[in-house]
Amino acid sequence: MKNNTVIFPGSFDPFTNGHVNLVQRALSLFDHVRIAVVSKGRKHTLFSLEERINLAEQACACFGQAVIVEGFSGLLVDYARSCKCRAILRGLRAISDFDYETQMALINKRLYPELETVYLAAREDNLFVSSSVVREIGLNGGPIEQFVPSSIAEELHKGFLLRQGTC
Ligand code: PNS
Repeated sequence: MKNNTVIFPGSFDPFTNGHVNLVQRALSLFDHVRIAVVSKGRKHTLFSLEERINLAEQACACFGQAVIVEGFSGLLVDYARSCKCRAILRGLRAISDFDYETQMALINKRLYPELETVYLAAREDNLFVSSSVVREIGLNGGPIEQFVPSSIAEELHKGFLLRQGTC
């Protein structure tokens, strides 16, 4: 790889075991992963930008300085240009992810032709793990431990408790 940093963008509402696994595997291809937490994406988020950044930082603390977490707003291509980065990482779970991901990669490529999107297939045991599933279980008081890193499970529980009945 010529460029040693990949941007991993997303809502991360919240960070899951699936995200951690993608970061870990990306680090065998790239020297650094820059987790870019969107401030306001297409979706309304349950957790604030600051909370999502903190959770991602705690979840990835084990990777040390190889991973940095930061918020961004506006277009992803502008953020990528500002970091002088030309690679985007996305995970693919099911075929249903494919339409949206292809559209995003093609639009980003039009806007920034030097930008490449790298996809990693989700590990088999994470195929059904998503932030939305974690939110639904958490908001209903269910067990989230098997879907999120242990380092953030307790904080997430508190976050869900505060929000139960509000969404
Ligand atoms: O985890 P998500 O919600 O699927 O991540 C989507 C994200 C944040 C990668 C995407 O919405 C994004 O890049 N937003 C920034 C705005 C942008 O650049 N949009 C044009 C790409 S279609």
